[in-house]
Amino acid sequence: MTNSNPILVLGGTGTVGSRVADRLRDAGHDVRVATRHAEFRFDWSAPGTWRPALEGVRTMYVLLPERTGMPESFMPEAYRTGVRRVVLHSDRGVDIMNVTPLQEAERQVRESRCDWTIVRPDWFDQNFETFFRDSVVDGRLCVPIGSTRQGFVDAGDIAAVAARVLTREDHVGRILPLTGPEALSFPEALDRIRDAGGPAVHFDGTPDAYRESLGAEGVPEEVIDTMIENFASLAAQGDTEPTGVVEEILGRPGKDFAAYAREAVAAGVWKRP
Ligand SMILES: NC(=O)c1ccc[n+]([C@@H]2O[C@H](COP(=O)([O-])OP(=O)(O)OC[C@H]3O[C@@H](n4cnc5c(N)ncnc54)[C@H](OP(=O)(O)O)[C@@H]3O)[C@@H](O)[C@H]2O)c1
Repeated sequence: MTNSNPILVLGGTGTVGSRVADRLRDAGHDVRVATRHAEFRFDWSAPGTWRPALEGVRTMYVLLPERTGMPESFMPEAYRTGVRRVVLHSDRGVDIMNVTPLQEAERQVRESRCDWTIVRPDWFDQNFETFFRDSVVDGRLCVPIGSTRQGFVDAGDIAAVAARVLTREDHVGRILPLTGPEALSFPEALDRIRDAGGPAVHFDGTPDAYRESLGAEGVPEEVIDTMIENFASLAAQGDTEPTGVVEEILGRPGKDFAAYAREAVAAGVWKRP
């Protein structure tokens, strides 16, 4: 690996990927962000866009968008083009929650001829400002997971780990489960948002409330059933134990949820327009 080869960041304009690109640039690396709308156009569903993004790349970070699989021909093409090191962004709940596209992507990366590392983050703190944002602003959030404690982790810490792992050889062949420094139930996380000056939010962790709220959004019954089943499997694991991997790799404490909440309030993420 040399500094003259750009590090390719797929998914590099989203919540985690944009932070990965920033961390790499901050560390002085040449970074190539490629997505459907970035300067380098890359579309998982358009194989003709892959090679231009891969040209000259030896190291790449791969973040697949939600519900998107990695085509079988992608890793072989990346290797043929010269990629030798890959860090795949996966999910701590990949097996428990049956996230098939990521299970498959993990297999393809492990079976590739590249040196690989798989990063498996728990729930992002930032979910409360992305797909839970409207519920937080409206004051009612339903996730059928009861009061089990989850390992909410800051997207900036996930990115810092990814950037570190991309640029060193000592984590090759590892699967890294990433959590924040403390596990919190949803009510506890929402209390921290309120204590930081954000909205007060009522949490309902029952399947019935979840079914009702998703049904009102027009989500098909069979999709809701599968989601409830997957959340039940996650809840059955009980409280999450923080893994300490963020701390191990970064050599500093991970950001706690209260700090995230204070920053998010200061940034106005839950302000009504
Ligand atoms: N949310 C969680 O708590 C959590 C926890 C663990 C793991 N995960 C996993 O994390 C990933 C999501 O991360 P994120 O929230 O950072 O993503 P995100 O913010 O939704 O960003 C998705 C990125 O993918 C790009 N993209 C979308 N469709 C594309 C396509 N067809 N071809 C190429 N690029 C495309 C987007 O850019 P363009 O729109 O410009 O293409 C963007 O850069 C998923 O794999 C999810 O399963 C999530």
